[in-house]
Amino acid sequence: MNNFNAAFHGEVKSQANLTFNRKIDHLRICLNKNVSFIGKSTGFNDVEFIHNALPEIDFDEISLETSLLGYKLNAPIIISAMTGGSRVAMKINEVLARAAEKLGIGMGVGSQRVALENPSLSSTFSIVREVAPNAFLIANLGAAQFSLGFGVEEARKAIEMIDANALAIHLNPLQEAVQCEGEPKFRGVLSKLNELVAELDVPLIVKETGAGISREVAVLLEKIGVKCVDIGGAGGTSWAAVEYFRALESNNDLYASIAKLFWDWGIPTAISVCEVSCATGLEIIATGGVRSGLDVAKAIALGASSAGIALPLLRPAYERGVEGVLDFLNKVILELRTVMFLVGAKSISDLKRVPLIIGGFTAEWLKLRGIKLEKYARRTGNV
Ligand SMILES: Cc1cc2nc3c(=O)[nH]c(=O)nc-3n(C[C@H](O)[C@H](O)[C@H](O)COP(=O)(O)O)c2cc1C
Repeated sequence: MNNFNAAFHGEVKSQANLTFNRKIDHLRICLNKNVSFIGKSTGFNDVEFIHNALPEIDFDEISLETSLLGYKLNAPIIISAMTGGSRVAMKINEVLARAAEKLGIGMGVGSQRVALENPSLSSTFSIVREVAPNAFLIANLGAAQFSLGFGVEEARKAIEMIDANALAIHLNPLQEAVQCEGEPKFRGVLSKLNELVAELDVPLIVKETGAGISREVAVLLEKIGVKCVDIGGAGGTSWAAVEYFRALESNNDLYASIAKLFWDWGIPTAISVCEVSCATGLEIIATGGVRSGLDVAKAIALGASSAGIALPLLRPAYERGVEGVLDFLNKVILELRTVMFLVGAKSISDLKRVPLIIGGFTAEWLKLRGIKLEKYARRTGNV
């Protein structure tokens, strides 16, 4: 048994709580198995910048500063929601939050349902505000819980727990449908979201977890007053894959086979950003398979305000602590700055206006959906 399994094993034995055990399984599987999409990519490979041989800027005058929901970020990057609930998770949350504070970027915690069910676990989440007093922090709960009875009170508790600047409600119908003990109940979610928008003092972010948000869904969300979506697209971590491994471990052949069939389900991240940005004025966080500063730059040029990264930060956080996470993120930031230099973008708002060539499957999809690719290719900014 390696270190991860040994640490997690002790925790599973120490509690008899379904949500708690599931969260431990998720962390352990994400750290030990290949849970990436296999036959589908984010679509970022179909997107090309046009090189600018005369950028007319100096590398060190490039500013990555931006804002999200009115909050300033030093770079357009969010550490995406992952964890909380256990001792291991608390350590990971602490490490990620220290990195977010140091870099002046945002961070989401994992679903806080486990701490609403067992308030003694709240500190595994609240640690993030303790070590990151100034960071943009995002609380997190699942939409299915709102269909099953959660309301404004639970949302407020989650926000207060980490003194959050925003609340993300995650939409994960795929995961709930392919999980042996899932709760695929989404009736009434839209009206619950409507209530939360009206009642909460912090903005709501509606977030997918790896299957993307379509234009149609984004339009419905904008109509009820949502201001920001995390499109959580396909091409990075596959939650069907995670549930496939859980089903295998519990010898549930039926759910292993169902989860395997849907391993690659979803709207690729680059496509989802275009779908949402073409049809709405929503602020967009582009998460799902963002693995480099080049991906971050493409997401922003396609219409996102910032990009989210989850799985690639998990192992550095666990094995190397704050330094490991900072090494990874500083590399992403340097890569982003390099792209901006090569397209002559001095600021994030410049980057949003540079021309892009979109080809391959991404182009096919967008054309069929009536999105004009010329409007990306013929932008005149910075070339
Ligand atoms: C271990 C792990 C746990 C996660 N838990 C949550 C969660 O509780 N709530 C949520 O909204 N998203 C959760 N996610 C989804 C991520 O926030 C993100 O949307 C998804 O993993 C895609 O990003 P990636 O390809 O960079 O991993 C989790 C991801 C990982 C890897």
